[in-house]
Amino acid sequence: TVVVLDFGAQYSQLIARRVRELHVYSQIVPYTISAEELKQMQPKGIIFSGGPASVSAEGSPRPDAAIYDLGIPILGICYGLQVLSVQNGGSVQRPEKREYGFADLQLLGKDSVLLRGISENSRVWMSHGDSVMSIPAGFETTGSTFNCPYTVIENAGKQFYGVQFHPEVVHSAQGKQILSNFVLTVCKAATDWDMGSFVNTAIEDIRSKVGDKQVLCGLSGGVDSAVAAVLIHRAIGDQLVCVFVNNGLLRKGEAEMVQKVFRDNYNIRLQYADAEQAFLSALHGVSEPEAKRKIIGKLFVDTFYNEARNAGEISFLAQGTLYPDVIESKSPSGGPSATIKSHHNVGGLPEDLKWELLEPLRELFKDEVRQLGRELGLPEEMVTRHPFPGPGLGVRCVGEITKERLDTLRDVDAIFIDEIRKAGLYDDIWQALACLLPVKSVGVQGDERTYEEVCSLRAVTSEDAMTADWFRFPPEVLQRASSRICNEVSGVNRVLYDITSKPPGTIEWE
Ligand code: XMP
Repeated sequence: TVVVLDFGAQYSQLIARRVRELHVYSQIVPYTISAEELKQMQPKGIIFSGGPASVSAEGSPRPDAAIYDLGIPILGICYGLQVLSVQNGGSVQRPEKREYGFADLQLLGKDSVLLRGISENSRVWMSHGDSVMSIPAGFETTGSTFNCPYTVIENAGKQFYGVQFHPEVVHSAQGKQILSNFVLTVCKAATDWDMGSFVNTAIEDIRSKVGDKQVLCGLSGGVDSAVAAVLIHRAIGDQLVCVFVNNGLLRKGEAEMVQKVFRDNYNIRLQYADAEQAFLSALHGVSEPEAKRKIIGKLFVDTFYNEARNAGEISFLAQGTLYPDVIESKSPSGGPSATIKSHHNVGGLPEDLKWELLEPLRELFKDEVRQLGRELGLPEEMVTRHPFPGPGLGVRCVGEITKERLDTLRDVDAIFIDEIRKAGLYDDIWQALACLLPVKSVGVQGDERTYEEVCSLRAVTSEDAMTADWFRFPPEVLQRASSRICNEVSGVNRVLYDITSKPPGTIEWE
């Protein structure tokens, strides 16, 4: 194990993830952990994360100083480097110029295990206000940058290392090498961690947390809740009850797929709520996007909790919350990082339901969850699925929502996705979708005049859905999708391709 001591960094989990990429088990703990507790974890190494505080500020986070006597190698990153310096007798100051962004790392010609294989002027990514002004006795400087004389410091005898930059972010060109030098060469950590071992640890955690109580999990058809459910089911079997609400706004075949996978393949207790009629009636005559969203959101919550009340005595609500969902709300280990955005997946729990949250995927990134899904045997189609909004086709059926229009949209969407898959482009696209527009157009089919609906196709690339660019299809793919849609979907005679980026457009139309 390599333990990451969390000082409230946005990047703590990224550090842990980089360690996992080296096949070494990594765990994040709050910086307040005692040296004694740490010792019992028997880590091969300790990484001090960065953090938003200034070491020179009063009351800034400090780890138990007895950690330095455990004889365990330490790597301090950014704030971690500064804490390491100060607690061992160095000093830190806030210089006039803060340093953010790229810098070139100059090696000082010393033989440092940490810097083995690193090139002169390797690009590193800095983000700090304070800087080390003098290093502790017994330490030496092995790397510097133009603005920061003490960029890499070490006490090789004690195996204490510190770097002012962030080796865990991709912007630091050789950051992975530095972490690997620390974890594998300095700490000699065992490389025996993989997704299989994650599953085993997670199962133990779930069992010990849940005991003989019952867990409820809402399935959406998306990858996160699916993986969470299957993992929890492996741990506690029939103590898990899943609820799936068919709101009538799902994609073609989705409700059937969810039932088949969870009921037939995994034998999971699944309560399927067919609420299509209720949603269609509530949405009747409503075209305004925010009004639609509110109706769908409220009815979903009502339906979900009605189902929950029928599920017996429930103690836990399972959610497929991932690390990126948590990263902006608070520091994952309960550490001191600033609240940037509150995030919630299930809006407003009713007061009478006192459930504890069970979130077994909180430490993972999306690609790790996909890998985990494969490990648990989920179908590839489900594991790699594009994101789909909670309000579903409701926000893609622009204008009035009727069963007929939804069915038309489902057919259009299925053909578009099918052509994307056939062209081998599905995984190059963040999200692909079709909208049905509230306009009709004149066309000609055979010798007949037609006057039918218009659909718009959209595919975007994105890192995080905050910004997006439209996907450049080879024209043949659009051509095939267009002619199939007009030929196979009755009621549609015109196909548009949306070339709006985000911003100014959003990914969804409503
Ligand atoms: P926009 O349209 O805001 O979408 O650019 C960004 C991403 O969020 C998805 N989305 C939603 N997801 N509930 C969700 O769970 C929603 O109400 C919702 N609205 C949009 C959208 O599909 C895209 O991935």
